[in-house]
Amino acid sequence: MPLRRRPKPLERRRQPDRVTEAQRPIAPSAQAGDAVVEVAGLRYAVGRREIFTDLDFVARRGRVTAVMGPSGTGKTTLLRLITGQVAPSAGEVRMWGANVATLGQRDLFALRRRIGMLFQNGALLTDLDVFENIAFPVREHTNLTEPLLRELVLTKLHAVGLRGAARMMPAELSGGMARRVALARAVVMDPELLIYDEPFVGLDPISMGVIVRLIRQMNRVLGITSIVVSHDVHELGAIADESYLLSEGRCVASGSPDELRASDSEIVRQFLDGVADGPVPFHYPAPDYREQLFGVDDPRGRG
Ligand SMILES: Nc1ncnc2c1ncn2[C@@H]1O[C@H](COP(=O)(O)OP(=O)(O)OP(=O)(O)O)[C@@H](O)[C@H]1O
Ligand SMILES: [Mg+2]
Repeated sequence: MPLRRRPKPLERRRQPDRVTEAQRPIAPSAQAGDAVVEVAGLRYAVGRREIFTDLDFVARRGRVTAVMGPSGTGKTTLLRLITGQVAPSAGEVRMWGANVATLGQRDLFALRRRIGMLFQNGALLTDLDVFENIAFPVREHTNLTEPLLRELVLTKLHAVGLRGAARMMPAELSGGMARRVALARAVVMDPELLIYDEPFVGLDPISMGVIVRLIRQMNRVLGITSIVVSHDVHELGAIADESYLLSEGRCVASGSPDELRASDSEIVRQFLDGVADGPVPFHYPAPDYREQLFGVDDPRGRG
């Protein structure tokens, strides 16, 4: 199949509208109608811990939007809010214009079907082979005949360069291969929005380059809107149209990779330059070290 050598013409023929949309240069003042995801004034707390105090975020159609931020700032939590797995304490999450919090279960499921998700660990089903892992959502949601299903699965595997691994079991795959299989599974239902949570973690530079290229291809060739959560400033710089830097419950900076690189904000500099201590402290909030060591404030130490 010529898909790998000539992906653009093939996919263009299939989805002309989306590609046209994706390739349209988007002016900085893009209209609100371009927003696939709109988060406004978001507040979210887990117990007494405030994860987000006032967060605004927009992911626009056909673009790659990056979400960066120190570990524990709430990047994964933001994805769970966007996909309606948890509800905000205040503010709004809108997907394709619909307020997620007001959707009934049926509409929420319909909305999630328009979203493909690449989980950090790949989350492949360990007792199914690669082919069946990708076929799984198709079997769940459609009544495709076996020959059509086979063509669909093999096309997606071919697109990630792993058609030859169709009958391998997840345990036989390297980390990078597993990530590519998970990507094939994430796009098998032709999602309009693709969400990646830490797609580069634990990959060698070559596998990382492969995933970067695939994310770009998924976005440009299929016209998919992408949200990429990652710490990898360098990789994000290569693929993101717009980046958001989260810290302490809100967005502290946003803009194109070039705009962020040019920023002289202390927190942006700390994050982009990889400095251990700065506005973002190295330590998670903790009681006084001496007191904790000697059990003064630790109930387990007092007994
Ligand atoms: N179900 C939960 N119960 C309690 N606390 C939670 C829960 N989920 C997340 N948190 C807390 O919310 C904060 C944000 O977590 P989250 O996983 O969103 O961070 P992250 O930015 O994705 O971090 P990382 O970069 O390490 O993946 C953390 O302090 C975490 O301890
Ligand atoms: Mg996370």
